[in-house]
Amino acid sequence: MRKVPKVPDSRRYLLGALAGFTLASRWGGALARTLLPATPAQTSGPFYPKLRPLDQDMDLTVVAGRPGRAKGQVIHVTGRVLDSNGKPVPGARIELWQANAGGRYDHPDDINPEPLDPNFQGFATQLTDAEGRYRFKTIKPGAYPMNPANPVNVRPPHIHLDVVAADQHLVTQMYFPGEKLNSQDRIFNAIKGSKDTVIARVIAPTPDIEPGASLLHFDIVLA
Ligand SMILES: [Fe+2]
Repeated sequence: MRKVPKVPDSRRYLLGALAGFTLASRWGGALARTLLPATPAQTSGPFYPKLRPLDQDMDLTVVAGRPGRAKGQVIHVTGRVLDSNGKPVPGARIELWQANAGGRYDHPDDINPEPLDPNFQGFATQLTDAEGRYRFKTIKPGAYPMNPANPVNVRPPHIHLDVVAADQHLVTQMYFPGEKLNSQDRIFNAIKGSKDTVIARVIAPTPDIEPGASLLHFDIVLA
């Protein structure tokens, strides 16, 4: 009968440790491959509405009870709220607020001399659907100076977002692709790592998009 050589305790421990390390590396590798980068938090800025409008629906280009339409380039912003494993988050509350086409917020503290647009809603809220999706129709916001009296720092067009889902709360900003002002913006540049997670993608328009409007895709990944 063949005698099984006895493995010394120290060697057995080493083999076990190596097997455990290999397994952990495989699992770790799998996790690292599947985790999505979280959308970074950014300041809410000073212009969250003091008084939220009565009309808060997903179409910001019209105000209920008014016949006109907001000035500016119509855009549709759509995407999903996801967790870091890529799983959709249904029922997440998204609040969106932004400047009008001239870069002016409907807020008493905004001293930008650009006029308000009475047909622009400026704020909207929505819950994500069963697949974590959301959609807003709005106009592309204008760039605006941080200090109108000394317009050195000009904020690029951006949309503010506040997302609440279960125990998660994210405040962030969405930017537009191809904007020269992005790379000069202090708030944009303060984002650590890749900025791709805060820049929307222009995608092919769907048949329900009006001529001249753009469709932008922006997923929000909660940490
Ligand atoms: Fe802003």
